[in-house]
Amino acid sequence: MATYNSRMGSATKTIPATLIPGDGIGPEVTDAVLAVLDAVEAPFRWETCKAGMGGVAECGDPLPPETLASIRRTRLALKGPLTTPIGGGFRSSNVRLREEFQLYANLRPARTLVPGGRFEDIDLVLVRENLEGLYVGIEHYIPVGDDPRAVAMGSGVNTRAGARRIAEFAFDYAVKNGRKKVTLVHKANVLKALTGLFLEAGRDVAKRYDGRIAFDDRIVDACAMQLVMNPWQFDVIVTTNLFGDILSDEIAGLVGGLGMAPAANIGTDAAIFEAVHGSAPDIAGKGVANPLALMLSSAMMLDHVGEQEKGRRVRAAIDAALREDKVRTGDLGGSATTREFTRAVAARLA
Ligand code: NAI
Ligand code: MG
Repeated sequence: MATYNSRMGSATKTIPATLIPGDGIGPEVTDAVLAVLDAVEAPFRWETCKAGMGGVAECGDPLPPETLASIRRTRLALKGPLTTPIGGGFRSSNVRLREEFQLYANLRPARTLVPGGRFEDIDLVLVRENLEGLYVGIEHYIPVGDDPRAVAMGSGVNTRAGARRIAEFAFDYAVKNGRKKVTLVHKANVLKALTGLFLEAGRDVAKRYDGRIAFDDRIVDACAMQLVMNPWQFDVIVTTNLFGDILSDEIAGLVGGLGMAPAANIGTDAAIFEAVHGSAPDIAGKGVANPLALMLSSAMMLDHVGEQEKGRRVRAAIDAALREDKVRTGDLGGSATTREFTRAVAARLA
């Protein structure tokens, strides 16, 4: 395990954090993020750890015990993309991390970065419940006659405590980030118990924020349509696991796709920040990957540790590099390398 020390003023407090560069383009985009965090004098003191194929190569586990121990210590991680090993019966590292650290909230902000897309001025945040709902995996088949899988059944689990916790997270997030409204998305007209309870708990929580944060609710299918008809009506959206999975990708699509989407997984025991995209093996090692998503994730991490001003500066520098300097990587129609884009962002922070 190596330790990476950011350059920082001697008076600044340092915050231990786990860094998982990851696989494929992971190390390239991680280097880019570290350069930008250095430029903004971020307070992190890194413990660099392996996971994914790197973990398998080193100790036969895509989520080595040392990596878990580091996150248990620091309770804070920045994670590059991990290649999912094919075969070998490995469980998804992302699911393992979610369970291990009870990362109950998945936060996916979406903001227009490059003008001239389908929608201008999008700025909304999706808060997805990350541990319950239809993702608990309670599924089975019922045999009929000679068909062993004639009937498939699946159950979801939502708890009042879990629904309350995620609603409180969404409202607290709204308060802390100057947001005006929380919209709860459900399907309580059909899934009356499963998502009815989620709605009921959310309404209870909303009362405590009355006068500070507006509240409304939408049925998920109508919400999906309204997101493409008039996305500007939404501010913070809070929803269950499956609906959140679907709507968060739809929302990323409003601002140009998954390539630029950052995410945070936040729980009682830890918070893990990551880019939504994968390890992009097709362009790995070529120096052309777009480091934007992981940079935005690191800005969320700064917000999370109370360094909102530094988070804001990183986002502003990214905006300036993209919009004013017009430095863009190939996936955004530009010709900049990872390094050139990183230098443009760092220059805006100087
Ligand atoms: P991917 O996101 O890695 O790549 C899809 C396409 O987008 C590719 O053409 C790639 O070159 C491009 N792309 C992705 N990120 C980019 C970036 N930062 N800059 C420029 N272009 C970028 O998805 P794919 O190919 O399905 O998965 C590759 C591997 O990544 C798989 O092993 C998959 O399991 C893993 N993965 C890991 C994730 C994570 O750790 N959070 C999330 C998604 C996939
Ligand atoms: Mg998904």
